[in-house]
Amino acid sequence: MNIDKSIAIVTGANRGLGRQFAAQLLERGASKVYAAARRPETVDLPGVEAIRLDVTDQDQVDAVARRVGEADIVVNNAGFSSFARLVDGDMDDIRQEIEVNYFGALHMVRAFAPIMRKRGHGGFLNVSSVMAWLGYEHSNSYGASKAANWAMSNGLREELAGTGIQISSLFLGSTDTDMMAGIDVPKNRPEELVATALDQFENGVNEILADDAAIALKAGLSEDRGRFTASSYPEHVA
Ligand SMILES: NC(=O)c1ccc[n+]([C@@H]2O[C@H](COP(=O)([O-])OP(=O)(O)OC[C@H]3O[C@@H](n4cnc5c(N)ncnc54)[C@H](OP(=O)(O)O)[C@@H]3O)[C@@H](O)[C@H]2O)c1
Repeated sequence: MNIDKSIAIVTGANRGLGRQFAAQLLERGASKVYAAARRPETVDLPGVEAIRLDVTDQDQVDAVARRVGEADIVVNNAGFSSFARLVDGDMDDIRQEIEVNYFGALHMVRAFAPIMRKRGHGGFLNVSSVMAWLGYEHSNSYGASKAANWAMSNGLREELAGTGIQISSLFLGSTDTDMMAGIDVPKNRPEELVATALDQFENGVNEILADDAAIALKAGLSEDRGRFTASSYPEHVA
């Protein structure tokens, strides 16, 4: 997937990894970067076009797709982690994770894939998480939503085979953004994480393992799930 001279849209681009994606897409020569955010007035990155978007609202997503038109790259970055527990966490939080992390990304796909299909090329970078692959106290409902995001990417790759549309799924461990504020584990630097992700996206990689945690946990997927618990997780990070 060529970033140079592309038109790209990044969801959740006002902060964290999304802001970094938007910045680095520009640096890599994208001709237009739409920085989508629920509150576009909070987008402070020079050179992008801020656009209002709550990814949970399909009508809003469709309106954005009509305005943006011929996008080459969609970075499905917007994400929500409530840290709710599956057994006794707030169901509204658990539903919101699925709404943002799965349905939100799917809304974007359903709006932009037909446009890319007509043009015979395009790429989605769907941000999943290593939490799709392990149990970890206070991240399990989030993990379920990211597993749905992963399964979505696998399915899309099948459904869109032969259309020229690339589906990349991004896996990463802890990275230093607001989402992980106050959580005391080793963290990736957002700049480095996004640079690795975009390098691999440009190389056409389907499953982007962007840090050591992602590499170790993916390699261990055929092993007994008991291996990856709260106590073992930190040794897989950094
Ligand atoms: N940081 C990590 O360690 C880590 C690890 C694995 C995966 N991830 C994933 O990486 C992505 C970026 O996370 P981050 O660390 O940058 O998180 P963050 O700092 O919490 O930022 C989350 C972004 O998503 C946006 N967002 C939330 N709900 C939205 C909605 N309904 N519609 C549109 N935008 C919405 C937020 O917008 P507002 O400002 O309006 O809230 C914000 O821009 C997420 O998908 C996250 O799950 C992060």
